[in-house]
Amino acid sequence: MKQKIVVTGGLGFIGSHVVVELQNEGFEVIIIDNLSNSSEDVLEGIKAITGVQPLFEKLDLRDKSLVVDFFSRHHDIMGVIHFAASKAVGESVKLPLLYYENNLNTLIYILQELQKKESSNFIFSSSCTVYGQADTLPITEAAPIKEAESPYGNTKQIGEEIIHDTCKVLENLKAIALRYFNPIGAHDSVIIGELPIGTPQNLVPFITQTGIGLREELSVFGDDYPTEDGTCIRDYIHVVDLAKAHVAALKRLISGDNADNYEVFNIGTGKGSSVLEVISAFEAVSNQKLNYKIVERREGDVIAAYADTTKANNVLGWKPKLDLMDALSSAWKWEQRIK
Ligand code: UD1
Repeated sequence: MKQKIVVTGGLGFIGSHVVVELQNEGFEVIIIDNLSNSSEDVLEGIKAITGVQPLFEKLDLRDKSLVVDFFSRHHDIMGVIHFAASKAVGESVKLPLLYYENNLNTLIYILQELQKKESSNFIFSSSCTVYGQADTLPITEAAPIKEAESPYGNTKQIGEEIIHDTCKVLENLKAIALRYFNPIGAHDSVIIGELPIGTPQNLVPFITQTGIGLREELSVFGDDYPTEDGTCIRDYIHVVDLAKAHVAALKRLISGDNADNYEVFNIGTGKGSSVLEVISAFEAVSNQKLNYKIVERREGDVIAAYADTTKANNVLGWKPKLDLMDALSSAWKWEQRIK
């Protein structure tokens, strides 16, 4: 019998790529998504890639009674991978309560149902944002958690704490928080990818939309940072590599190999790239010049963040296989496809 995994937010950018990898590895997937930032068409895409249509329930996890009902109908769930959350930093500053409700209430309701089970495996989608501007680079998991710059960032910190505290008292709950660096790119089939609603806030979708002519020019937020070319440095990870890290983490939990019932891992490439380096890599893969200008710094941006991935490499046995060029090339193909 196939092991059944629930993926909340499974029609979103990262979630959909994880569903593909889970199905490729023989897991049975049930997606929960409220379609607030995703489309049901993604189900067809997942089926086209894997040959299997995942089960899907359109469900709003903010409604506790629906969460209780879902878990009362599914007794044989091996694990939950929790993506469903809001993720726009700027919006979270304007609408803090919405972010705390979306990102924390849903987490609590799921954990409350998992605690009723004899055993459960839980993976949380966290972020390198918890480190803020780290004092030392590359960033290891031992780096201190810095005060959050936004309600969004705070929900990731508090989310981790909620899970950690729960794991301390619930021996049968095993959890891993994956701290993503900057996920970009699309599946190499170009059937699924990122679908930003409105103006993209993140660098790579803004670049590809500018490249295709949807946006006039990219604003580069500051070139007076203390880095080699003056622009900020990030660790851009291909979403397919990131998706595979979830499968590795899930297998660790299911096999009982975990050292502690709560663990955290950085998921990045270990390599930092500046904004100007990303632009020139994009120009190389798309064979065209990108229209951009340097503007003021964006509030809240850290200067540089890239991962030390030693722990994920050694403990999860996971290593990224794709590089920045692969990721940008897939992002560009995807943009051309969705045009
Ligand atoms: C941002 C959030 C991070 C969150 C992530 C979720 C901030 C400070 N950080 O990450 O907490 O987890 O999104 O998606 O908001 N850039 C430009 N022009 C643009 C867009 C971006 O120059 O139009 C630059 C930024 O200044 C940054 C780099 O590109 O140096 C990457 O930006 P982005 O893709 O927004 O990611 P983060 O800021 O790292």
